[in-house]
Amino acid sequence: MYHSKITGVGHYVPENVVTNHDLEQLMDTSDAWIQERSGIQERRFYRPHEKGSTAKMAFHASKMAMERAGVTAADLDAIVFATLSSDYYFPGSGVLLQDMLGMDTKPAIDIRAQCSGFLYSLSVADQFIRSGMYKRILVVGSETQNIALDLTTRGRAIGVLFGDGAGAAVLEQHNEPGKGILSTHLHSEGKHAEILCLREPGTGNDTIIYEGMHENHDAINPQMDGRFVFKNAVRRMPEVVMEALTYNNLTLNDLDMLLPHQANLRISQMVQKLLRLPDEKIYNNIQKYGNTTAATIPILMSELWEQNRIKPGQLYALTAFGSGFTWASALIRW
Ligand code: UT7
Repeated sequence: MYHSKITGVGHYVPENVVTNHDLEQLMDTSDAWIQERSGIQERRFYRPHEKGSTAKMAFHASKMAMERAGVTAADLDAIVFATLSSDYYFPGSGVLLQDMLGMDTKPAIDIRAQCSGFLYSLSVADQFIRSGMYKRILVVGSETQNIALDLTTRGRAIGVLFGDGAGAAVLEQHNEPGKGILSTHLHSEGKHAEILCLREPGTGNDTIIYEGMHENHDAINPQMDGRFVFKNAVRRMPEVVMEALTYNNLTLNDLDMLLPHQANLRISQMVQKLLRLPDEKIYNNIQKYGNTTAATIPILMSELWEQNRIKPGQLYALTAFGSGFTWASALIRW
C-alpha cells in the first residue's frame, strides 16, 4: 500500500508591497475599514519589471520546494498546478512551468478550483501516488490577481482583498501507514457559481472575446456577494475539518495546527472559535499578503517550515473555501 508525504515546501511573493494606505490613493477606502473588516494590512502585487507571471512565480516557489526536498526536476514524475489566473486563456500554466523546469515530456495537470485549488491538487496528486502510477509530484498554487482587480471605488469591496504569490510542495511516495497525507476531502456546490465569479473571458457570450467586452464592467471584473461567501465559509470549513478528523478516528484534541485558507481574518477567527482551538493551534498570514487564492495554503506551510514550526509526528489540518463554491480539507501527520 502506497502513501504520500510532503518532503519540501516553498513560496515566492513579489517584492512590490502595496499597503492599505497605497490603496487609499486609488479609491475611497481606509486602512481602518480594511483592517477592521478583513485583517489585511498589505499585499504583494507583481509589476511587469519583476517578470512575475503566474508560471514564473510558480517556478521560484517550486525551486525552493525542490531544494528543501532535495530533489531535482529530473526526479519529478508530474506537476499538478492550481490557479484561477493562468498566463494564457489556454493552455494552463502547468505546461509553462513544466517547460521552465526542463521536465522533458512529463505531464502537467491544471486544476481550476479557485481558493480550494491547492487542496484539490494535493488530493489529485495523493491519488496518483496511492495508485502507484507516480512516485514524486510537484503540487503548485500560483496567482497573479492584481491585473484583474478594479482598484477604483467601484471595485473596492473586492479590490482590497486580493494579492499575488505562489507556493509549491513536493509530494513523495512512502510506505509508512499513519504518516504523511492521511486523507483529503473535497466538495463543491455549483449552484452558487455566480456568487463569486469572473465572467469574461468565457464562452457564455457565444464568443470568447466580443465587441464591447471592455465596456462591460460587471463582466470583466470579479463579482462577489461577500456576506453570503462569508456565511458559507464559516460553515463549510469547520464541517470539512471535522469530516477529516472523523474519517481518521481522530478528534480536535489530536490536532496540533490548523492552516485555514486566508480570505479574511474574521473568517479564520470564527472558524477557530467554532472549533474551539487555542491561538497557538492556528496560523494566519493574511495581514501580509491578502487573499492569494490557490497560493495561500502552500505559502502558509512554507512560512511555518521557515520558522521551524513543522515538527515530525505533528498533526496538521488544512482547509479552504472559495469560488465555485468549492471547499476541501487535508489531514497530514508530518
Ligand atoms: O476566498 C473566498 C473569497 N472571498 C471571501 O471569503 C470574502 C467573504 N466576505 C468578506 O470577507 C466580507 O463580506 C467583506 C470583507 C468582503 C466585506 O465585509 P462586510 O462586513 O460584509 O461589508 P459589506 O460588504 O456589507 O459592506 C459594508 C459597507 C458598505 O457600505 P454601506 O452600504 O454600509 O454604506 C460598502 O459599500 O462598506 C462599504 N465598503 C467599503 N468601504 C471602504 C465595501 N468595500 C469597502 C472598502 N472600503 N474597500
